[in-house]
Amino acid sequence: MSEQTGNLTFGIIKPDAVCGGKTGAIIQRVTDGGFKVRGMKLIHMTLQEAEGFYAVHRERPFFPELTTFMSSGPCVVLTLEKDGAVKAWRDLMGATDPAKADEGTIRKEFGGSLGENAVHGSDSEENAAIEISYFFSRLEIV
Ligand code: CMP
Repeated sequence: MSEQTGNLTFGIIKPDAVCGGKTGAIIQRVTDGGFKVRGMKLIHMTLQEAEGFYAVHRERPFFPELTTFMSSGPCVVLTLEKDGAVKAWRDLMGATDPAKADEGTIRKEFGGSLGENAVHGSDSEENAAIEISYFFSRLEIV
């Protein structure tokens, strides 16, 4: 991408939330939170694509469970814009474990468990740029 990516982050609405009919409600939370949707599409990852995306976690014991789940159904992938987008999206998502997430966060409302926690978000600007480019071509970012 030729533009500054510091105000962009990457998000996924995970298969539990998509299959549970929560996509619309989560997108509403995104726009109510002041994010501009710059890229959005429905995808269904193969196991290999999920393993590539989560390669940083490949030594973790939960890696097979994580990648099997993420390739089990459709996801919505998002490129989101806001000042301080990485932190703002992580704040709106809430803690990784929905049981520990604050009231008002997406994971508190829509997440079911540590593994099936409704949404993903990048943890740094550097990883946001990598994750956006894993799923989106330049033409798909508007
Ligand atoms: P995510 O933000 O997508 O990044 C990595 C994911 O691994 C994380 O959300 C969790 O859903 C998942 N995860 C983290 N720890 C565990 C665990 N102990 N068991 C299963 N999944 C986990």
